[in-house]
Amino acid sequence: MKGKYHSTIITLLIFALSVIFFEEKQVIQKKTFLENHFNREEISYIHKNDIDVKDIEPYLQYQKFNIFKYHLYQEAREKYNFTYLESINYVNNPDYYHFYHNPQKALFVNTSYVLVNKCYYLDKDFVPKDLVNVKLYDIDCIVREDEEIYLKKEVLESYQLMFNAAKGEGVELMVFSGYRSYQKQKILYNYVYGQDDTISARPGFSEHQTGYAVDISRPNEGLTEFFEQSKSFSWLMDNCYKYGFILRFPHDKENKTGYAFEPWHFRYVGPIAEEIHLNNLTLEEYLFSNLEI
Ligand code: DAL
Ligand code: ZN
Repeated sequence: MKGKYHSTIITLLIFALSVIFFEEKQVIQKKTFLENHFNREEISYIHKNDIDVKDIEPYLQYQKFNIFKYHLYQEAREKYNFTYLESINYVNNPDYYHFYHNPQKALFVNTSYVLVNKCYYLDKDFVPKDLVNVKLYDIDCIVREDEEIYLKKEVLESYQLMFNAAKGEGVELMVFSGYRSYQKQKILYNYVYGQDDTISARPGFSEHQTGYAVDISRPNEGLTEFFEQSKSFSWLMDNCYKYGFILRFPHDKENKTGYAFEPWHFRYVGPIAEEIHLNNLTLEEYLFSNLEI
């Protein structure tokens, strides 16, 4: 009887010690985790605000996660059903869709997904690398007197393939405009478009300055909304993504792009064009949901 009593006590003791040991281990693990990811000030903020470590973990893969904004991220996630990344982007960039309000330097410069719009600008002296004269390619273009058209080499390489495929199906595509310098955009904005922000970008804010934007149409329609009715436009809508291009200013996306529908303005974005096409996104929306901005 006495022996049984003793063994029960011992079992209980072992159990109690295991619980203490387990809890102690968890405290140490949590401390190490916090010290690995945060500085002292941040750790004290986490304790003071009673933030659960498990809730922080999904954010940690993002460089721009800021623990001091944690509650704002959580609020945005619940309110708008955002992913963790979207909530970080939303809170960290309150002016992402506030045109000409608080412009920032262009994002992802020197990549095919560079973002230049009414919120993100290029410096006056920014000139893209690898600009090539369209004349060197076997494509159709409208080149006015005293004007040459340039695009980035990777854009032209892909455009050539797209042009060949279209031509093979009897579809006419003609390049009307490509790279524009800051100075050229300044003249267009001020004197040609009379500073009309609905149709022209301000100097520094046009993605034509990146060398990745190309105006495509046919001589009959030129840069007018009539191009939308052409077989060329329908063909581009069905096929341009296969060559890395997107229609940059689609219908009903003015609140995202800052511009009304422009059937002629295409943008080379590379492989992400397919996802943009399939999900009916703009470049702004794609970047917001897929990359840290
Ligand atoms: N028309 C386009 C928006 C530009 O000026 O870049
Ligand atoms: Zn354009």
